[in-house]
Amino acid sequence: MQELETQKAEALAAIAAAETVDAVEAIRVAALGKQGWVSALLKTLGGMTPEQRQSEGPKIHAVREAVTAAIADRKAGLEAAALEARLAAERVDLTLPAPEAPKGSVHPVSQVMDELAEIFADMGFAVATGPEIEDDWHNFTALNMPETHPARAMHDTFYFPEMDGEGREMLLRTHTSPVQVRTMLAEGAPLRIIAPGRVYRSDSDATHTPMFHQVEGLVIDKGIHLGHLKWTLETFLKAFFEREDIVLRLRPSYFPFTEPSVEVDVGFTLVDGKRVLGGSGNGQDGGWMELLGSGMVNRRVIEMGGLDPDEWQGFAFGVGVDRLAMLKYGMDDLRAFFDGDARWLQHYGFNALDVPTLSGGVGVRA
Ligand code: DAH
Repeated sequence: MQELETQKAEALAAIAAAETVDAVEAIRVAALGKQGWVSALLKTLGGMTPEQRQSEGPKIHAVREAVTAAIADRKAGLEAAALEARLAAERVDLTLPAPEAPKGSVHPVSQVMDELAEIFADMGFAVATGPEIEDDWHNFTALNMPETHPARAMHDTFYFPEMDGEGREMLLRTHTSPVQVRTMLAEGAPLRIIAPGRVYRSDSDATHTPMFHQVEGLVIDKGIHLGHLKWTLETFLKAFFEREDIVLRLRPSYFPFTEPSVEVDVGFTLVDGKRVLGGSGNGQDGGWMELLGSGMVNRRVIEMGGLDPDEWQGFAFGVGVDRLAMLKYGMDDLRAFFDGDARWLQHYGFNALDVPTLSGGVGVRA
């Protein structure tokens, strides 16, 4: 009897002194496990006389209950303390200042695309996308360039050796214009979208890379005319170059997917022998720079987009994003855009936290 009390007291003291959940578990196994001493005591009940069992049984059960309860208590206490310690260690101090030198930077192409999205969103345009691996129907035929059309040859297209399941030639899209047709077919009219993205042509020198970026614009609605096109481009270019004195000249041109087609020139002024966009474009110290292609969407393209051209009209434009970035931020070699040189990125890149907004300025240098 005395021995039982001592054993219990020792066990409770050991439990109270245990420093870890594992240590408590070891005590539990030694006491209550199959080979444990409490279990052994319980087994002795079987060999007792009924009288002995009546007097000893409750005492042994009381020991088992006391030990079990002490173990559960101690475990809960240690687990709570461990959680407390973890929460304290993992606390994030939101009052710490941001790192002084941010790592990495936003590429000028991404920056300009963000700027474009911001400017056009303000005019009610949504951003649309299409696949870079296209078929020749979307890239050419639906844009009024049938198989024999000479403009196809001008695109220096990368073709895939195999056709798609519908017998269409597969290619890397040569422009973002196929997104016009895809969006008309998917969404109908009216539409106001821009479609920025990568395009591919087999071409390479200081101003041409096999992959480059364009942004396509498309408006489809009722009663749309060239005036809407000119206002939209003027508003866009003033916002983009952050100058009020941007002057446009629309020159008659030809694209299969627009009729009439216009090439848009922007007036520049010579400042220390360098061309700076803005100013009249006329006179000795200025001129015109060709910037983008556009026009009223050809009736046939509207039809290919599943719409009735007697009901719906529209305008479209396409412009090189890399070109826009070079003009705005002063880089002169297009190839450097895609070299992945960390020093170039450090110099021409933008702070990731400096998101372009119309209110905050769409082109603030980091
Ligand atoms: N897709 C033409 C190109 O890559 C650019 C272009 C010209 C797009 C006129 C247009 C447009 O939407 O109307 O050369």
